[in-house]
Amino acid sequence: MSQSPGDEPRSSDVVRSVRRVAAQLEDAGRPSRDFGSASELPTQAAGSAGTLHARLCCRAHRWRKDRRLEATAENRYVLSTVDAATELKRLGLLAQRFDAGTVRRLVELGVTKGWRCVEVGAGHGSIVRWLADRVGPAGSVVAADIDTRLLTGLPDNVDVRELDIRDQDLEPGFDLAHCRALLMHLPDPEAALARIVAALRPGGVLLAEEGDFGLLHLGGHPNSAAQNDAHQQIVNAMREARIMDGYLGRTLPEMLLASGLELQFAEIDSATGRPGEAEYEWMRTTLLQATAKLVAAGVIDAATRRTVEEFFSTSGTVVTSISLVAAGGRKPT
Ligand SMILES: C[S@@+](CC[C@H](N)C(=O)[O-])C[C@H]1O[C@@H](n2cnc3c(N)ncnc32)[C@H](O)[C@@H]1O
Repeated sequence: MSQSPGDEPRSSDVVRSVRRVAAQLEDAGRPSRDFGSASELPTQAAGSAGTLHARLCCRAHRWRKDRRLEATAENRYVLSTVDAATELKRLGLLAQRFDAGTVRRLVELGVTKGWRCVEVGAGHGSIVRWLADRVGPAGSVVAADIDTRLLTGLPDNVDVRELDIRDQDLEPGFDLAHCRALLMHLPDPEAALARIVAALRPGGVLLAEEGDFGLLHLGGHPNSAAQNDAHQQIVNAMREARIMDGYLGRTLPEMLLASGLELQFAEIDSATGRPGEAEYEWMRTTLLQATAKLVAAGVIDAATRRTVEEFFSTSGTVVTSISLVAAGGRKPT
């Protein structure tokens, strides 16, 4: 039977989630002190299981945070070390370009008052703010990101959560989950998607939106062919280094189907841009920031980065930009 928006997750969902977190802790050699083993967990009311779930999640979070500190730099989001002001500007341009389409798709999926929503990889929270207003005080929004420094000044019904979707679960029972430009940055996007889908209630909906560099073209430069070769090399190098898959967007519809969702729609949003327009300026900031990090990490050489700088300092240039593939899905009831 499906659950009404705003209801608490069902008792069996909470108990299942408690078992999963407890089993992960046991596997990691950090068994919970609340009981003998995961198999001895309570199966009674959601109330006591819910308290236990919260305690276990905190413990698992601490363990994973320690483990993450040991992770190598190349496993992290490529722009995670960019200063906050520059990243805020870049995400502002991204929002200017893509928020209207995202909002239209969220409305199409039925987001309404009282819904429990989660955005994974919430960035600077432009969509979180829209969701918080849409669901109103009776609803709530979890704004989850590995880096929460830009998630400030948000409404009271928003819960900001530091979360690494590569290895941290969300509690079950959400009416809506949203991610944009997240899965393409992860080494195992299918696993992250499965984790997000697991957090949906039966009948809950997902909007996933990911980039695809397939149409990327840098035009209006006297040496456009060399420019486009260099950019192709950058996208391929990032893919090989498993830093970012620039061709993930096109696979989203099949990924949603493989994750067990019923596909509601899939569409592609592409645009071109001239200097001063959001599309162009977002590309400029993204490529200049990313290539600086990639040179430092030894993924591309300095000459390739200079090619990027040259393009964006040449007047009369025009970009056919990164496309956004959007797919909406519903979890079967
Ligand atoms: C390209 S930004 C997109 C931000 C936002 N979704 C938007 O479209 O404006 C990618 C976001 O995903 C976050 N992120 C990257 N890896 C993550 C992970 N493993 N778990 C959670 N968030 C992650 C980054 O910190 C960043 O905020």
